[in-house]
Amino acid sequence: MASSSIVTPPQNLASTPHYNRPTYLMCPPEWFGVDYVINPWMAGNLHRSSRDLAFAQWKGIHNVLRGVADVRLLHPEPGCPDMVFLSHGALVHHGVAAVSSFTHPQRRPESEHLSKWLEAHHFLLWNTPRETAFEGEGDITFNEEGTALWAAHGVRTCRRSHRHIADAWHTPVTSLHLVDPRFYHLDTCFTPLHGGFLLYYPPAFDAPSLAAIDAAYPANKRIAVSEHDATHMACCALNIGRTVFTGELSPTLARQLFDAGLDVVQLELSEFIKAGGGAKSLALRLSDLPITHGTLTR
Ligand code: ARG
Repeated sequence: MASSSIVTPPQNLASTPHYNRPTYLMCPPEWFGVDYVINPWMAGNLHRSSRDLAFAQWKGIHNVLRGVADVRLLHPEPGCPDMVFLSHGALVHHGVAAVSSFTHPQRRPESEHLSKWLEAHHFLLWNTPRETAFEGEGDITFNEEGTALWAAHGVRTCRRSHRHIADAWHTPVTSLHLVDPRFYHLDTCFTPLHGGFLLYYPPAFDAPSLAAIDAAYPANKRIAVSEHDATHMACCALNIGRTVFTGELSPTLARQLFDAGLDVVQLELSEFIKAGGGAKSLALRLSDLPITHGTLTR
């Protein structure tokens, strides 16, 4: 007698996902708040953010992104007020997700929630040992070609985790040392942009790191921002093709980006800045495309 049971392949034989258009995972700010202090931005803002305003601002970025990208949602969890900053939960590329090992105990529960979603969507999980902190896209980013990684240490992510993360994709990695506690994540002060440009805040790095950046980006491709723009999270920018989504910019910086051939979408992000976050930290990148989602034009 033929069996009627359906044989399902074991999970690890399912193929890993491939997203060939701009794709992000976001988490609504249902439980968002500045409920503890783990960075200098939160220090003066404890319990001073408005969840209603945060929701309105989050919907603003969610709406504009939905216009140009596929945006998936992760269910927000009570007790995780920083979960809205989903890009710190992992670094995802070619179906592999290097999952964060957060420095602060306050953010550690986020990893389990994100891991469950990634697993359910057939990503291969590359876990980071507990003793080597790593904070996802917050501290590590691919170069525009997707051939190498830039990784920061000094505040959150531990330098020893850089090689471990790079091994997930067998890529070379350049370590950068962050020296200003206000710019505690790489995404607060360094973002590769379409066309081979780099948006960055030089005083956030030590001298050898600046030398490594100078060696990789010619002077006419480096867009150094002022302290004013850096403290408005201008570098925490999301880049889809020619379009750069970020917070409010000074007219000077807006002009520089325009001259670089980029279109800028400025977003109101005051509530997230109180917690130390900007536009890029609100969306985890899942796309299997160059980091800027554009064609490479150098
Ligand atoms: N409160 C969060 C933290 O300190 C904010 C993260 C937002 N950060 C960013 N890198 N843009 O971990």
